[in-house]
Amino acid sequence: MAENGTAVRDIVVTGGGTGIGLAIATRFAEDGHRVTIVGRRRDVLHTAADDLRAGRGLDVTPVVCDLADPDDVEAVLSHLPDRIDVLVNSAGSRELAVGAGPHGLLARWRGDFERNVLTAVLLTESLRDRFTDGGRVVTVTSVAALRGGGSYGASKAALHAWNHSLAAQLGPQGVTCNIVAPGTVAGTEFFGSRLNDAELTRRAGRTLVGRVGRPADVAAAVLFLASPEAGFVTGEILQCNGGELLGR
Ligand SMILES: NC(=O)c1ccc[n+]([C@@H]2O[C@H](COP(=O)([O-])OP(=O)(O)OC[C@H]3O[C@@H](n4cnc5c(N)ncnc54)[C@H](OP(=O)(O)O)[C@@H]3O)[C@@H](O)[C@H]2O)c1
Repeated sequence: MAENGTAVRDIVVTGGGTGIGLAIATRFAEDGHRVTIVGRRRDVLHTAADDLRAGRGLDVTPVVCDLADPDDVEAVLSHLPDRIDVLVNSAGSRELAVGAGPHGLLARWRGDFERNVLTAVLLTESLRDRFTDGGRVVTVTSVAALRGGGSYGASKAALHAWNHSLAAQLGPQGVTCNIVAPGTVAGTEFFGSRLNDAELTRRAGRTLVGRVGRPADVAAAVLFLASPEAGFVTGEILQCNGGELLGR
């Protein structure tokens, strides 16, 4: 039994070694579920899993995989649970350091598509026969998908279109598919050193609540959509941005 008396569920969180993914994995593990975290860096993943297991007995398994590489995805399938109750696609990033001209544009657009679209699509589509009745797929995109934001925003918006068809296809299996679209979230690796105090203040000023987000804010939204009680919500985009962009 999980902490709240419900059945223990098998959870897979991509990008679960850092930032938002780690916050999501932590919440599920603290609730007593079996959690697999996926990412490329072995040391980062193992440190995260060890930290959660040590002294707390949480059930967290690290699985190393480059989710934009179809060979890697194929190879990793045997290391993931046979039945999956919740898949959270949180892996993703944004490339800023690319060259000029058409070759730079190609690198940026292809890179953002690979980092954000393929990391979610290759794994989710490969796992579609493993989702349990009552299963949940939650994919993390961005306010940039709704507001505009170059190749990064476009790649996240592609996930919105994909999620609509995924929800239609998996609905009859009892599986819901939803999006959480965060605004600025501090305390992750996403911005590197670009999120200095001045930039944080500027971004906080764009919200209605006067602060930027925390990984736990996004985790709370994901946990709602992944909960057994959220079975009548599917094909939805849940913004989590402190009012930076209002819902419509
Ligand atoms: N922070 C924000 O302000 C913000 C706002 C809106 C949306 N988001 C989105 O939120 C998600 C999580 O970002 P974050 O802020 O938590 O940043 P983060 O700390 O950089 O987390 C991204 C995670 O994705 C993993 N990852 C990246 N590429 C991967 C690949 N090809 N295969 C497997 N794993 C991969 C990374 O691990 P490895 O490098 O070890 O693979 C890392 O653990 C991303 O999708 C991001 O676009 C973030």
